[in-house]
Amino acid sequence: MVRATGPAQTARSSLTEAPRHFRSSRNAAGLLPIMTSSSTVPGYEADIPRHDIKPATLALVLQGVAFAATFAAWLLLTHIFLLEPNFLALALFQGAIAMLLSGIFRMAVWWRFIQLIFPLAVFWTHGLSIPSWVYLSGFMLTVGLFWTTFRTQVPFYPSHEGVWRQVAQYLPRDRKIRMIDIGSGLGDLLLYLADRRPDSCFVGAEIAPLPWLVSRVHAYLRKSNARFYLRNYGKMDFAGFDVVFAYLSPAAMPAVWEKARREMLPGSILMSYEFEVAGNRPTAILQQEQGTPPIYVWHF
Ligand SMILES: C[S@@+](CC[C@H](N)C(=O)[O-])C[C@H]1O[C@@H](n2cnc3c(N)ncnc32)[C@H](O)[C@@H]1O
Repeated sequence: MVRATGPAQTARSSLTEAPRHFRSSRNAAGLLPIMTSSSTVPGYEADIPRHDIKPATLALVLQGVAFAATFAAWLLLTHIFLLEPNFLALALFQGAIAMLLSGIFRMAVWWRFIQLIFPLAVFWTHGLSIPSWVYLSGFMLTVGLFWTTFRTQVPFYPSHEGVWRQVAQYLPRDRKIRMIDIGSGLGDLLLYLADRRPDSCFVGAEIAPLPWLVSRVHAYLRKSNARFYLRNYGKMDFAGFDVVFAYLSPAAMPAVWEKARREMLPGSILMSYEFEVAGNRPTAILQQEQGTPPIYVWHF
């Protein structure tokens, strides 16, 4: 289903032309306009903190401060008051301080909860005497899968067939296309599209090694012509593509929009599953059924 947002019908029927309102209202610098009537991801803007530190880094720093305070408390209790330390209480104390500091620094609510739980989880798992190789394996798997999520703020989370079908239906049929999935994950979207559009070119850019490796092996086994690169999409030139697909996060979208605005050529299409761009009304919104996340589409 396509929910029209003004020029959506125009965009649907003429995929090679930018919608009229986009073209007519370019500003003096020749850039696409910033629309003012879009909705934003609910609850997202309200939580934007005033500082510039990535949440994972801030969480680590605050947990470190909480640990230092707890260590000082432990010294006080054992050396001055000569009390027997209760490590469960100390873990709870550290978590509570970290949670309080996270609130002061306006971290998202779920981060505050993690901050509270983290020292308790360390205390609890320490008591289980789990062999160290289990921790190492878990760490390696997490690093391979999520890589620099702490920096990109985009976790690995695959889309599903309903989304791939909608994308396939929306792609221009009257010509060959070049499409890129920025953050291609396991590559399933592109493998699906490449099977159905052997005339066209499908490229994936993925920053995390493990999903990238899976996508490469998968493409090889399926003899797919989809190509996957272990690369930061920031280093790919969007001008080389007719369609750019993104399934990232609200935090990544402003930079994606800026890059798209700079590089994408007239007639090209940006699609973003689930995440819109604050202040930029999409040309079309594709939605399978009520209550499921839509795909936002912008025609340049
Ligand atoms: C939500 S998943 C989407 C996966 C895939 N597009 C799909 O539809 O199933 C986002 C992916 O983007 C990747 N990613 C995040 N930042 C990236 C970057 N700067 N360059 C390339 N990939 C990135 C993540 O590693 C993750 O695998």
